[in-house]
Amino acid sequence: MKSSRSSSYRPKLSSLFQPQPSNSLAVKLLFAFFFLAIGFALGIIKGFYIKSSSISHSSSSSLHLPRQPVKKIEPVPKVRVGLKGYMEPTNIMHGMNDEELFWKASMVPRIKRHPYQWFPKIAFLYLTKGDIPFAPLWEKFFEGHGGLYSIYVHADPQFNLSFPVGSVFYGRRIRSKKAIWGRVSMMDAERRLLANALLDFTNERFILLSESHIPLFNFTTIYSYLVGHTIYMESYDLPGTGGRARYRNKMGPVIRPEHWRKGSQWFEMDRKLALEVISDETYYPEFKKHCKMCVADEHYLPTLLNIKRWPHVANRTLTWIDWSQKGYHPANFSSEDITIEFLKKLRYGRSCNYNGMKTRVCFLFARKFLPNCLDRFLELAPKVMGFG
Ligand SMILES: *[C@@H]1O[C@H](CO)[C@@H](O)[C@H](O)[C@H]1NC(C)=O
Ligand SMILES: *[C@@H]1O[C@H](CO)[C@@H](O)[C@H](O)[C@H]1NC(C)=O
Ligand SMILES: *[C@@H]1O[C@H](CO)[C@@H](O)[C@H](O)[C@H]1NC(C)=O
Ligand SMILES: *[C@@H]1O[C@H](CO)[C@@H](O)[C@H](O)[C@H]1NC(C)=O
Repeated sequence: MKSSRSSSYRPKLSSLFQPQPSNSLAVKLLFAFFFLAIGFALGIIKGFYIKSSSISHSSSSSLHLPRQPVKKIEPVPKVRVGLKGYMEPTNIMHGMNDEELFWKASMVPRIKRHPYQWFPKIAFLYLTKGDIPFAPLWEKFFEGHGGLYSIYVHADPQFNLSFPVGSVFYGRRIRSKKAIWGRVSMMDAERRLLANALLDFTNERFILLSESHIPLFNFTTIYSYLVGHTIYMESYDLPGTGGRARYRNKMGPVIRPEHWRKGSQWFEMDRKLALEVISDETYYPEFKKHCKMCVADEHYLPTLLNIKRWPHVANRTLTWIDWSQKGYHPANFSSEDITIEFLKKLRYGRSCNYNGMKTRVCFLFARKFLPNCLDRFLELAPKVMGFG
């Protein structure tokens, strides 16, 4: 069937290229005349060409003679920017402004299968004023776990940070702007941290920390607690001055009073929510415009979770804070407060749900500690916290 079809095409095609048999004398004469005419015409053109080239030889040769194209061997780049360099940028100090950064960070790969194997990383986002007094404790915490974490520091631009070369914090400061307590600039800083961490496609969990935070467990415990599980954030309705009263009517109708929620600033989220947060062009602009001084860092994320009915949220924070004293600021702790008993209480002092089961490991981090606690922590970490 197939061959008969193709053979039926062949004669038609070949007939175009085969000279038709012609026995007529008139046709032969016509051909002879045709070639004669072509030869004559070529002779005239050649004569003209020689004549004109003799007048201005140099210009005609450069204009009419085909030149040999100059060929160069393509240089082989010594360092190729492979996929890994794109996926896991090592230099985090980029030249992008906020608008450019958020746009780039919002990109999502559509092919789900990974072209190479990697372990999910936890991004530790340090929102600080200046230095990180507990850096030596964190160094011990991260020791031996390279490739499973990445660090980002957002610090007040007026401070110079100094970390020793080789420190896990060295070169991890992102482009930062001033963040003021209670102001929307605090939430801007958190979103900036998230956006920078999203640029590394292997970051899958994102934890917000401050300079007064400490880890309560070792890295392996925290890693396995987080990776692949629910996200840890609060979202609750609080009547009164610290909650509902901070809603601004001008946010309506985009954000309505019944949307309004409160929760701890200290979030732990996955990539999906981080992308949602930095790409939010609907609700965040309302906060920017109308919640300039209404503690956006305790309301924006809880409200967003509520509006979106975000699934898989453990309604609790992983950071232990002492709110027992009245006022807007939690209690701080000094070196004389730091005992084995105290640390044990922070590690196992409560009961909560984890993966549908009861556990006493509810807080993985704690704050706020004064810098003079460092030596106590370094001393007690190996005895109580399982690292160092
Ligand atoms: C930061 O460093 C710059 C340049 O070394 C210096 O001029 C400035 O005073 C420093 N700022 C602080 C707050 O130490
Ligand atoms: C979270 O817990 C609080 C109580 O602490 C509760 O009022 C609130 O409804 C919970 N939120 C969700 C989304 O379940
Ligand atoms: C620590 O807390 C005490 C008492 O609440 C307060 O007076 C002091 O200013 C706080 N110190 C710092 C550094 O926050
Ligand atoms: C980490 O801490 C856990 C208890 O939380 C302990 O069982 C484990 O041995 C510790 N890991 C290392 C490497 O010390």
